[in-house]
Amino acid sequence: MPVADLSTLPPQERAEKSLLFKPFQLGGMGRLEHRIALAPLTRNRGRPSDKHEGTWVPWDIQTKYYTQRATKGGLLISEALPISLQARAGSMFNVPGIFTDEQKEGWKSVVEAVKPTGAVFVAQLFHGGRSGGHTALSRAVSSSATRIESSLMGGPGDVPDEMTLEDIKRTIGDYVQCAKNAIEAGFDGIEIHGGNGYLPDQFLHSNVNKRTDAYGGSIGNRNRFVIELCEAVASAIGPDKFGLRLAPYGFFNETRGTQRTEQWSELCRALAPKGYAYIHFMEARYDEVLSEQTKLSALGQEMSTDFSSDGLPTLEPFRAILGKDTPMIVAGGYDTENCWEVVDSGRADIIAFGRFFTSNPDLVWRIQNGKELVKYIRPLFYVWPEGKPAQGYVDFANHEENVHTQEEKLVLEEHKKRGIVVAKPGWQLSQDGVQLGEIFV
Ligand SMILES: Cc1cc2nc3c(=O)[nH]c(=O)nc-3n(C[C@H](O)[C@H](O)[C@H](O)COP(=O)(O)O)c2cc1C
Repeated sequence: MPVADLSTLPPQERAEKSLLFKPFQLGGMGRLEHRIALAPLTRNRGRPSDKHEGTWVPWDIQTKYYTQRATKGGLLISEALPISLQARAGSMFNVPGIFTDEQKEGWKSVVEAVKPTGAVFVAQLFHGGRSGGHTALSRAVSSSATRIESSLMGGPGDVPDEMTLEDIKRTIGDYVQCAKNAIEAGFDGIEIHGGNGYLPDQFLHSNVNKRTDAYGGSIGNRNRFVIELCEAVASAIGPDKFGLRLAPYGFFNETRGTQRTEQWSELCRALAPKGYAYIHFMEARYDEVLSEQTKLSALGQEMSTDFSSDGLPTLEPFRAILGKDTPMIVAGGYDTENCWEVVDSGRADIIAFGRFFTSNPDLVWRIQNGKELVKYIRPLFYVWPEGKPAQGYVDFANHEENVHTQEEKLVLEEHKKRGIVVAKPGWQLSQDGVQLGEIFV
């Protein structure tokens, strides 16, 4: 049941009363003790494999990163893990996958080390489709032979090969195999990355999917790949260990499909009865490369028939269709203030934090105790200074009132030397280049 407005209460009292810090059973994945999750974040810190060309494996640094962010009964969603060489796409360098035995063993070590924290750890499975273009080791595929055109997205890109029915079958098989690998490695469940213009999203969007067979040409047909994929993976590992991520209002990787509300509503109608552990949505306001304002005005122009000029597209229609039996995670632009109401009002069950979790390993504690957040360092999201992969990755400290172990003390000392920059309210929502100068590197 939604609870009353708690915003005037002191932080700890608010936390005691709010649903944000109440337990939640996440299907068969596990029991959460609170509703704050680590969003999937690609950080490109894998170790190059010396066994398989073009692959990377997780190592100690991932163990440290996830352990720092783990809490008892807290949900951790892994970075996007490519399911094959082809899935990696040309752009995913230094990204550890989960398709070789070496990668599976690597993740097993990470998961084993994280498990004692009591966190619920889910692996996100990824296929880039057309996003990275062809490589020497594999060709890029997509729903259709439509390339990324915009220079903002690094275009014009390579024209991908349109997937044959055989390709579709094989690719779903790759997802299934990697889902099994993830469960065998000890993950509590898997999430399919169905947003951000990657392969599943390339089937959903009408500007990318130009197929005239059963996988294109209508809303129902464009949904088919995602529905079949979910069914195949869920039946391999159990539907209650399965989650799907969607970005119905995303633009990233040139996803400019029409009839978005209808498309994703119909998809949700198909997913609702399946007993999946959750569906994870990205909020319309968030975009990887556009500022919030630019994103919203572009959405407004594109979707003038879908929502009124005084309102933004919301996730509420999807929540209503999915109902309370399919838990909903939301992500995109949440901070220490706006995260409470969305759970307390019943609009979502769990909030996933991305950027602020990079720079605040003890984010859950900070929210619970009403502490300020530290700014993240955008230039170190995907790259690092030569030989220093820890920078911007595992060198952010806990709040000084929340430092217990010797290791935490050392990280704090180092962090203080560099200078701790506190985030200003609203700062995280704007993503234009202006901020790059503000961020220390
Ligand atoms: C550095 C970075 C890497 C990301 N990698 C992924 C990813 O691997 N998979 C995914 O589904 N989303 C990815 N995202 C999106 C985040 O999961 C999240 O939805 C987004 O950052 C919005 O949440 P925030 O406002 O709390 O940062 C990434 C975002 C960032 C900033």
